Amino acid sequence: MVSQRTIEIVKATAPIIKEKGEEITTRMYQIAFAERPDYKRGFETTWMQRLDGGDQAHKLAASVYAYATHIDRLDELATAVEKIAHRHVETRILPEQYELIGEKLLQAMKDVLQDAATDEVISAWAEAYAALANIFIQKEKAIYKQEDQELTERLAYGR
Ligand code: HEM
Repeated sequence: MVSQRTIEIVKATAPIIKEKGEEITTRMYQIAFAERPDYKRGFETTWMQRLDGGDQAHKLAASVYAYATHIDRLDELATAVEKIAHRHVETRILPEQYELIGEKLLQAMKDVLQDAATDEVISAWAEAYAALANIFIQKEKAIYKQEDQELTERLAYGR
């Protein structure tokens, strides 16, 4: 769980995230893929449509905004988290990929928000991102495990 101070700061940034979210996530994909072009794997459909991330930049911005506004009542986001986690598993996202995406998301916030991205805002978002990444990582591990079990059973029983 994140600190009370982080909750306050993240919530206070919600309006600016709403306004600039897509600019931030578009920038995030740009710098993340410049460093790790291999992370584009999984985004084939999205990236064939638009080279700037298009729909995916919009979806990620919407989810970051939803997180900012619900950080103290995450249970309300359970269905959305479940859906995103399943999509991540379908595209074979792994836990170790979260760190780079987080680093680039914070860098993109600095690039786009400039003076509004104070050290306090960035460190609050660093803590908040780590908590969200952990939620996805745990959920996705459980889905991978479930898939493995189902496959093992099918192989064992020849179904
Ligand atoms: C806390 C961090 C993250 C959030 C909030 C997030 C959010 C999302 C959302 C909202 C979607 C769209 C789901 C849908 O269409 O129903 C998505 C899909 C996806 N995400 Fe993430 N994501 C995160 C981390 C990551 C990481 C670390 C990667 C690794 C590169 C990644 C790769 C993908 C891919 C490949 C898709 C599918 C894109 C497609 O359908 O074209 N995500 N994510």
